[in-house]
Amino acid sequence: MDILVIGSLNMDVIFDTPRMPAEGETILGGRFATAPGGKGANQAVAAARLAHPHTRVRMAGCLGDDAFGGHLRQELVDAGADCTFVRTLPGVASGVALILLENGLNRIIVASGANAALSTEQIDTLEPMMRAGDILLIQLEIPLPAVQHAVALARSKGMRVLLNPAPAPTIPLPDDLLAQIDILTPNESECAALTGLPCTTPEFAAIAARALRARGVPQVVVTLGGQGVLYNRGDVLLHRAVPKVSVIDTTAAGDAFSGALAVALAEGMDIDAAVDFANATGTCTVMKAGAQPSLPFRAEVDAWLAAQPPLSSQNMPAHE
Ligand code: RIB
Repeated sequence: MDILVIGSLNMDVIFDTPRMPAEGETILGGRFATAPGGKGANQAVAAARLAHPHTRVRMAGCLGDDAFGGHLRQELVDAGADCTFVRTLPGVASGVALILLENGLNRIIVASGANAALSTEQIDTLEPMMRAGDILLIQLEIPLPAVQHAVALARSKGMRVLLNPAPAPTIPLPDDLLAQIDILTPNESECAALTGLPCTTPEFAAIAARALRARGVPQVVVTLGGQGVLYNRGDVLLHRAVPKVSVIDTTAAGDAFSGALAVALAEGMDIDAAVDFANATGTCTVMKAGAQPSLPFRAEVDAWLAAQPPLSSQNMPAHE
């Protein structure tokens, strides 16, 4: 089974700061760095670093014809992702993300640049790559019409569709889009934006997950940071804890999780094993700095999983 990632590519411009500046205020920050990022590219790099050689990972998206674009493409190629369908657009800037890091927690502003040019016509060129049983992994950092077109085309070809609804949608997602998603991986704020319900605890997330399932999504996996993961196995909702680790930088942890989940499902793992594998990948990611520089390789995740004592897992109460 192969994985097709359609999404954004950004150069991340990262500032460590002791606190967020107030309006009109200048403060002195700490470390400055640049690193390849973008939710789509992060997920493609995560999947390519984790996948066994028989699983091909393809990336589709748009870059500008600037120095950032060349660097972003090379990082994907080095990870083993096929970039044939990443277009370089003349006279356009590549996407850039400004990341403010305070105690390892991030705030991000994205200037979309070339990502905003990803069109339904470009999606049509991917049709020959869309094969029944393969996985489409897609996010919301590209234009919504492209997302909707890609999901509909992929479904018509019999692909399984994994939507990571990030960044959190600012308008309600159409019901007919949600109904075509096989696996949805919101974090707590994205889950709240999708449902209008609070998702600050596993118990609240369970109620929101039921609401998403009622809108036609068969597999919901809500990531709750240090509070673990809430997901369903069929009609049963489960909560999985995550181990406590020292967090260096949470950037791309959600991308690592979704990329790993796609790999696990492509390899035929059941949902419990897939969530454990994705959790381990997310945990390895937060212990390093930067988006793509922090994404682990398969051997690292397998070693981490092997060294972990069994984590607690509990069924969530069945009330609405
Ligand atoms: O999810 C993290 C990513 O969000 C960063 O790499 C940044 O580019 C933004 O897209």
